[in-house]
Amino acid sequence: MNIAIIGTGMIGGGLCKAWMRKGHRIFLGTRNPLSDHVRALVQMDEELVSAHAPEVAASKAEVILLAVPADQAFDAVRLLGDTGNKVLIDAMNAVFRKPAGFDSTGDAIRANGNDHIVKAFNMIGAENMDNPHYGDTVADLFICGEYPEDKKIVLGLAEDAGFRAFDLGGPELEPVLENLALVWGKLAFGAGLGRNIAFKVLQS
Ligand SMILES: NC(=O)c1ccc[n+]([C@@H]2O[C@H](COP(=O)([O-])OP(=O)(O)OC[C@H]3O[C@@H](n4cnc5c(N)ncnc54)[C@H](OP(=O)(O)O)[C@@H]3O)[C@@H](O)[C@H]2O)c1
Repeated sequence: MNIAIIGTGMIGGGLCKAWMRKGHRIFLGTRNPLSDHVRALVQMDEELVSAHAPEVAASKAEVILLAVPADQAFDAVRLLGDTGNKVLIDAMNAVFRKPAGFDSTGDAIRANGNDHIVKAFNMIGAENMDNPHYGDTVADLFICGEYPEDKKIVLGLAEDAGFRAFDLGGPELEPVLENLALVWGKLAFGAGLGRNIAFKVLQS
């Protein structure tokens, strides 16, 4: 699948590595294609990964991962232009940094005219993106979004990244996923468990 990754930091970089290993074609959308961290990602496999201006990366992909600071969500999506019905994966958390004028990153994206949003990869730390394995156990990932066909694609991409993934429901679940990210932070930093943690649903 052709995937654009807008924001090449911890989340974007980790998922780039994970999806590249599965043979996906990655178009990094970056403010600086020549930065050391972008070049390092491209050099991992120049046939599968290339770096572009964000709007160029988005134009080449069927799925667009948004992994920029949440307060940049509106401007980052506006810069992409008309994304039509392309799937926008919202990995951003606005719990501490809201986009100006909006309560959530989802609202900031919708204000740009695209509601093909799937919120995913936001509820746990970035270290999990490249490796969600804890011994024989894989981390669980929860997603939500409006359209079943979009969520099917994202569930597949989550599984390609190594997660067990569950669809929790519609966009009304976006705040729930953000609050899970808050819980993750409380456990990692408040309870002192550190960043290498994730959630797992137990079932007898
Ligand atoms: N870190 C985590 O553990 C974690 C976990 C869950 C969710 N999230 C969410 O994922 C999103 C990305 O987090 P991250 O930790 O990957 O952030 P990060 O490491 O700081 O990377 C963010 C990337 O966004 C791009 N960017 C675009 N516009 C920017 C601007 N105005 N200022 C700064 N960077 C800008 C930059 O890529 P270029 O320089 O290539 O343009 C930058 O590398 C955030 O919304 C965060 O809440 C993070």
